[in-house]
Amino acid sequence: MPPKLISHLFPCLIFLTLLLLTLYFNLLSHTQPSSPSPPCNLFKGKWVLDPTRQPLYNHTCPFHRNAWNCLKSQRQNMGLINSWKWVPDSCTLPRVDPTRFLGLMRNRNIGFVGDSLNENFLVSFLCVLRVADMGAKKWKRKGAWKGAYFPKFNVTVAYHRAVLLAKYKWQPKQSTVGDQGGLKGIHRVDVDIPADDWVNITDFYDVLVFNTGHWWGYDKFPKERPLVFYHAGQPISPPLEMLDGLKLVLENMVSYIQKKVPSKTLKFWRLQSPRHFYGGEWNQNGSCLFNEPLKESQLDLWFDPSINGVNKEARYLNHLIEEVLRGTEIQRLDLTHLSEFRADAHPAIWLGKKDAVAIWGQDCMHWCLPGVPDTWVDILSELIRYSLETG
Ligand SMILES: *[C@@H]1O[C@H](CO)[C@@H](O)[C@H](O)[C@H]1NC(C)=O
Ligand SMILES: *[C@@H]1O[C@H](CO)[C@@H](O)[C@H](O)[C@H]1NC(C)=O
Ligand SMILES: *[C@@H]1O[C@H](CO)[C@@H](O)[C@H](O)[C@H]1NC(C)=O
Ligand SMILES: *[C@@H]1O[C@H](CO)[C@@H](O)[C@H](O)[C@H]1NC(C)=O
Repeated sequence: MPPKLISHLFPCLIFLTLLLLTLYFNLLSHTQPSSPSPPCNLFKGKWVLDPTRQPLYNHTCPFHRNAWNCLKSQRQNMGLINSWKWVPDSCTLPRVDPTRFLGLMRNRNIGFVGDSLNENFLVSFLCVLRVADMGAKKWKRKGAWKGAYFPKFNVTVAYHRAVLLAKYKWQPKQSTVGDQGGLKGIHRVDVDIPADDWVNITDFYDVLVFNTGHWWGYDKFPKERPLVFYHAGQPISPPLEMLDGLKLVLENMVSYIQKKVPSKTLKFWRLQSPRHFYGGEWNQNGSCLFNEPLKESQLDLWFDPSINGVNKEARYLNHLIEEVLRGTEIQRLDLTHLSEFRADAHPAIWLGKKDAVAIWGQDCMHWCLPGVPDTWVDILSELIRYSLETG
């Protein structure tokens, strides 16, 4: 080949190669599905006021519980409470699109297992999803089962009440001999046996969201009616303190979930929902009449366990839970930090019932609906979408 020709051919070849490469990459980028956005951290960010923001549902949603239906009980500031938008640091959190989400979940079921804070979460989820299927029907099974069925999509979303996750039952004192320090009986907790309400139902669900938390305290189980922990049917000796019992329960429940729940089931563990009792415990006139979220700089003062405040247990329990979850396939649903800000968003004195405050004190633990749990729904549905589309 004459050298002249080569020197002409060479740039041509380079040009052709570049052209082919460009075409190839264009083709590649078009054949890929619309990218499922976040492996970004949705749990870190800030609340930003957006006066145009409106809740997706109102007080007429049939799945409400009275005590959390803050529009019905005419709680002050409901407009403001629902104008705050959670903005993650490094990406945007889209609001759930109920029709798209239920379409994605078609023929699948979502289950919540745990205490009333998971029920609070469930009610928000049901009211949000109902927007896409007004034919949603209450769904109940024996015992504690509660939820809704969405007929347009053949989807069930339900809650199983199991406040300690493990099985427990009240056993009144047998003998009348001696005073036994005022003991009235015990709550026997079988650390290795899941509560009846969820032990045999996990196959029904494609997504499960667990939690346990605010029942692990001496206000629920005082010294006269303590938790006594059993393993393999025998009392554990020496008896465990409550939080050591919690740790053992967590280890056993997590290992049960790992072994018995099908691996295709998406599993989440919702970390603690923080309480906001100011000036005292719930039974000591503790109150949460705040008009706006706390500032980031105030959070440690409220929640750092080393400060020993009224609301310190959330972060402490999270620490225990995260240790047990490490290395498992259960995803952390860390809603604690974003919720810590929201001292303004509890039912407080608006409980929908006369005298409720005098009897129970303010509710600075559950959340108004519509409200903060709607943001939990946005996050959970985004993580489910991401897992299903990439899984
Ligand atoms: C409440 O929401 C329903 C739809 O779920 C709507 O038909 C109704 O007009 C709303 N009521 C108010 C007072 O906004
Ligand atoms: C509805 O979903 C369930 C799974 O939850 C499935 O077994 C059933 O076949 C579905 N029904 C219809 C009509 O598609
Ligand atoms: C769960 O299923 C097992 C095995 O079928 C059965 O022995 C047990 O009684 C069931 N437990 C409950 C609470 O339904
Ligand atoms: C709570 O408030 C009531 C009424 O103001 C008062 O009588 C009671 O002593 C207070 N309780 C505590 C524990 O501060």
